[in-house]
Amino acid sequence: MKQLKFKNGDSMDAIGLGTWKSDKGKVTDAVRIALENGYRHIDCAATYGNEKEVGDALVEVFGKGEIKRKEVWVTSKLWNNAHKKEDVIPALKKTLEDLQLEYLDLYLIHWPVAFKPEINGFPEGPDDYLSLEEVPLIETWNEMIKAQKDGLVKHIGVSNFSRQKLQRLMAQTDHHPEMNQVEMHPYLQQKNLLEFCNKNSIRVTAYSPLGSGDRPDNLKADNEPSLLENPVIKEIAEKHEASAGQILIKWSVQRGTAVIPKSTNEKRIKENLESDKIQLDEKDMKKIADLDRHYRYVTGKFFEVEGNSYQNIYDD
Ligand code: A2P
Repeated sequence: MKQLKFKNGDSMDAIGLGTWKSDKGKVTDAVRIALENGYRHIDCAATYGNEKEVGDALVEVFGKGEIKRKEVWVTSKLWNNAHKKEDVIPALKKTLEDLQLEYLDLYLIHWPVAFKPEINGFPEGPDDYLSLEEVPLIETWNEMIKAQKDGLVKHIGVSNFSRQKLQRLMAQTDHHPEMNQVEMHPYLQQKNLLEFCNKNSIRVTAYSPLGSGDRPDNLKADNEPSLLENPVIKEIAEKHEASAGQILIKWSVQRGTAVIPKSTNEKRIKENLESDKIQLDEKDMKKIADLDRHYRYVTGKFFEVEGNSYQNIYDD
């Protein structure tokens, strides 16, 4: 399995199990099956609402003693309603309590957007947000640094950050993010962002690699293009006697990013990890490169509410 290396010598498996949209009733089995079948990287977030159930699987698997805590990479993310200085570490501690862990391998700021602390669901209007003047991202970031110094997390990073947002943050601190987790797949290849991250030793994790077809309907656009049904992807899959999902996953790995396909289905959980055995050739990679169409399945545009300070989520 390909690894992403960190400066301190730590490494993370390139293929991890995603848990966004995984039902509470299914995710414990999914994580256990994944770990028993060779996954060593689990991606979580407080806002997914299932960290307790993910934690139940971790406790069960570690309890058996065959897989040790230090062999598994666990990522989680700080939700938007906990950006204030005094809220970051308590939110992290709640995640640790739910995951039933002593530390995280990686903690990310989930979005470059702050809600008021009392907003537990989705903001209804501009008054539900905190402005960037009230809570600058550097304030949140400095608490992330503190969490790392305190040993609660081994690595810190961000998610859904554009190049400009990374640059702005990096200009204010010597302690740069080690990871940026963003939507990335053949329809949204983000070449400039990937190049910027590579140049600045910021590793990248690709989310929604399969197009996140199980998103709730209110987060879906009409007539979305399907990645899994794309004829080029299907043709390459046939050539390699693989599934379309496996081609999409391996494409991410061969571009040097981590990738976190979500599944709660045993067959697909295994299949997704096995994609590592496929080797895409130059022609395959070129054909997939030509599929780029700057299409986002998970647009953060819904945070751009008139009257709040988040008018430019994707400012390039
Ligand atoms: P399921 O959980 O039933 O396997 P993403 O990772 O882009 O968010 O996509 C997750 C969606 O893709 C889920 O609906 C998941 O369903 C489905 N999925 C996961 N693995 C595969 C695969 N190998 N082939 C087709 N669909 C998959």
